[in-house]
Amino acid sequence: MRYAIVYLSTASEDLEEEVIENILKSSKTWNNQNDITGLLLFSEGSFFQIIEGEKNTISELFENIKEDDRHHNIMQIFGKDIHKDAYDGYDSDFISNYAEYDPEKFQHYLDQIKVLDFAAQKAVEKILKVFLIY
Ligand SMILES: Cc1cc2nc3c(=O)[nH]c(=O)nc-3n(C[C@H](O)[C@H](O)[C@H](O)COP(=O)(O)O)c2cc1C
Repeated sequence: MRYAIVYLSTASEDLEEEVIENILKSSKTWNNQNDITGLLLFSEGSFFQIIEGEKNTISELFENIKEDDRHHNIMQIFGKDIHKDAYDGYDSDFISNYAEYDPEKFQHYLDQIKVLDFAAQKAVEKILKVFLIY
């Protein structure tokens, strides 16, 4: 059984850009090596993450992530069984405070969540809009 978790969190204060880039890059590498799909974004002090993969792997990873002191206020949006085939690998992105809204990037992020059922995709789409645009 595959499983997906989506959450938002607050980056620890004074987290250097280099540390954030390192979290994004190492997560992308490890997740791709372990058949986990999804997306990890950082913008203006917050993380948004979706992890999807084999249920035990995802549960263990999320327990690890929750204990990571580089972020806090972890607010889980949902955890769901997944009935579709995995989509397209893992991606991560650092969105600078000065980034312009980029419709192509937004579409790419939406493509990363196609593994979710329709209602979950719509919920994530709404959160992503707030996360990226406002
Ligand atoms: C916001 C955030 C998201 C993370 N996401 C992942 C992830 O998707 N995959 C991953 O391997 N590590 C992720 N990490 C790092 C883990 O918390 C942890 O450092 C990593 O799994 C290595 O654990 P270990 O030191 O016990 O081997 C994330 C950390 C943070 C702060």
